[in-house]
Amino acid sequence: MKKNINFHFLIISLFVLLIMMNIIWQSFAKQLITTSMEPFSYGEHDANPDTSEINGKKRVALTFDDGPHPVYTLKLLEGLKQRGVKATFFVIGLNVKEYPEVVKQMSDEGHIIGNHTYSHVQLSCISESKASEEISMTNALIEEYTGKKIQYIRPPYGSLPKSLQRETDLIPVLWTVDPRDWSVLNTDAVVKHILSRVKDGDIILLHDIFETSVDAALIIVDQLTKEGYEFVTVDELVH
Ligand code: NI
Repeated sequence: MKKNINFHFLIISLFVLLIMMNIIWQSFAKQLITTSMEPFSYGEHDANPDTSEINGKKRVALTFDDGPHPVYTLKLLEGLKQRGVKATFFVIGLNVKEYPEVVKQMSDEGHIIGNHTYSHVQLSCISESKASEEISMTNALIEEYTGKKIQYIRPPYGSLPKSLQRETDLIPVLWTVDPRDWSVLNTDAVVKHILSRVKDGDIILLHDIFETSVDAALIIVDQLTKEGYEFVTVDELVH
């Protein structure tokens, strides 16, 4: 009988010992894994690979021609304000005269305003005095409503005679990405065109007189912001 008790005791002791060894081994193994992983763990600043892209300063400028429009420009201004994005507007003198409060709002909200002539003419196809008048009348109107001096011009069709450029002292701003939004009038197509081509330093051409273009612009802002782009006004890209 005594022998039997001893045997039971031995079995139980062995069993307890096994459990204890298992516990010790597990905690040791855990410590070993943690220690061995330590040299490979990332520091706070490298933890997210997207962070470096955001700090990478890829810059792009959104530019809008032919406005202001009493409905779509306001919709765009609201969307840009919500997203904290500044853009550049090349306005037509005739439209400025019609909707001065929209131009004032653009300026007050920190956007850059440039000249796009008074009646959307091709400056190289009219007399120099008439062309000069197209520019100066528009400058005067914008300056009257915003109180700011105009520095930039986007000549319609991209043509600005050299003599006129010297005379007006305005910096011409063209573009590098043109989705022909006025022709396709389709939000998805415009978004696709821009997103497939855009790169650091690009100037995107859109028209804020079309709702499809305004909707596309806001989608582009959201997507490119996620991709690490920063939206700037043209004065930061053109010198
Ligand atoms: Ni135009």
